[in-house]
Amino acid sequence: MSDASLDQLYKPHLQTLIRRAERSLAACGFDALVIHAGAPPVQFLDDQDYPFKVNPHFKAWVPIVDNSRCILVFSPGAKPKVLFYRPNDYWHKPASLPEGAWTTEVDVIATDDPAKASQHWDKLGRVAFIGPDAFAAGIEPTCLNPPELLTSLHYDRAVKTDYELECMRRASELGALGHRAALAAFRRGGSEYEAQMRYLEGCSQREEEMPYNNIVAYNENSAVLHYQHLDRKPPPALRSFLIDAGAQYRGYASDITRTHAAVPGRFAELVKATDTAQLALCAEIISGRDFRDVHLSAHRMLGDVMHGIGLTRLSGQDALELGVTSVFFPHGIGHLLGLQVHDVGGVMGDVKGHERKRPEGHPHLRLTRMLEPGVVVTVEPGIYLIESLLAAAHGDARRAHIDWAVVEELKPFGGVRIEDNVATTATRPENMTRDAFARVA
Ligand code: GLY
Ligand code: MN
Ligand code: MN
Repeated sequence: MSDASLDQLYKPHLQTLIRRAERSLAACGFDALVIHAGAPPVQFLDDQDYPFKVNPHFKAWVPIVDNSRCILVFSPGAKPKVLFYRPNDYWHKPASLPEGAWTTEVDVIATDDPAKASQHWDKLGRVAFIGPDAFAAGIEPTCLNPPELLTSLHYDRAVKTDYELECMRRASELGALGHRAALAAFRRGGSEYEAQMRYLEGCSQREEEMPYNNIVAYNENSAVLHYQHLDRKPPPALRSFLIDAGAQYRGYASDITRTHAAVPGRFAELVKATDTAQLALCAEIISGRDFRDVHLSAHRMLGDVMHGIGLTRLSGQDALELGVTSVFFPHGIGHLLGLQVHDVGGVMGDVKGHERKRPEGHPHLRLTRMLEPGVVVTVEPGIYLIESLLAAAHGDARRAHIDWAVVEELKPFGGVRIEDNVATTATRPENMTRDAFARVA
């Protein structure tokens, strides 16, 4: 799809946001909405900024992700306004005014003086302001990030527009390019650091543009769920490579994990069996399904994988019931994805934000909602050899159900996770990640 076609999807996207905003504003007693893009914090005792991360509410309305201090003003019945910050600053290059075809759907107004911004909403009645407190001077506290309004907007956000889905396909494709380049670095014997550098180059994004900190882990490091280092030297032996890395397109994220074995053997078989189970779980992303059931299904399937590979001595169902699967699979099977990698609203049962409880014993599941067309989720089963969890199981009744010799054999490989981004449709699920890998192959 060309950029022009993507821009054609922007108008109906904006109309959907307008409809949702109008309903939420009316329900919460507001007349208008002002969204501040935010600004990067300054480092302590320094004059350097941290990387800028735009307010997700702002980038939902307009694809401006790299210019701080912009403001969106929306009042029902009027064209949305974007106050586009262009300071008179000779130390930095002011951002250029946006130019895409989408800009005709909003009024873009260049501004260099934030102090004058409020003239654009002074006469709009009771205005809800969404953004960091630091930019809410003069805003009445009850109008600043009103919880009821945020809840309503967050709930609606789970269902993506066609424009958002297309942005996410593109984010997946960028991620697939990065994954391909990083794998080549691993195969050449490059370090974690080198794999990360090749990843960024492969998807043409800088580190601060990543939707989350990439996890680039070799060998035992793959057992650390959010491993954050990048070893500069390759280890003496390369056994396994787990890479969890995404990309963004117009502010929408992909979140992709692949695991590779360097040598044949039990770990390579574990990766293959996990991949097969992962695909079966992706097929469960269908409208009308409770995501909590997908999570429990994952425990059963992964329990069977553990059994098949020789790690455990009981069926997946029994392993789930006895808490054995959680030793090796301690996180949720997935989460909402979109403007944020862990998108908001995952445990809301309705627009008022009533909680849909997690299954007992599964405190880390981030998504408990019913699936419906347009909802995009990750499906990310994993099996890891994590010292602290293994020690706990060794110390209780679960010890008898685990083959500790196989545990020792697999520990040097760390763990496996396979993660795809899947869109719920009215019919069969759309696996954005597998589709993207196929396109870049
Ligand atoms: N990359 C973070 C996650 O998979 O949830
Ligand atoms: Mn994820
Ligand atoms: Mn991930």
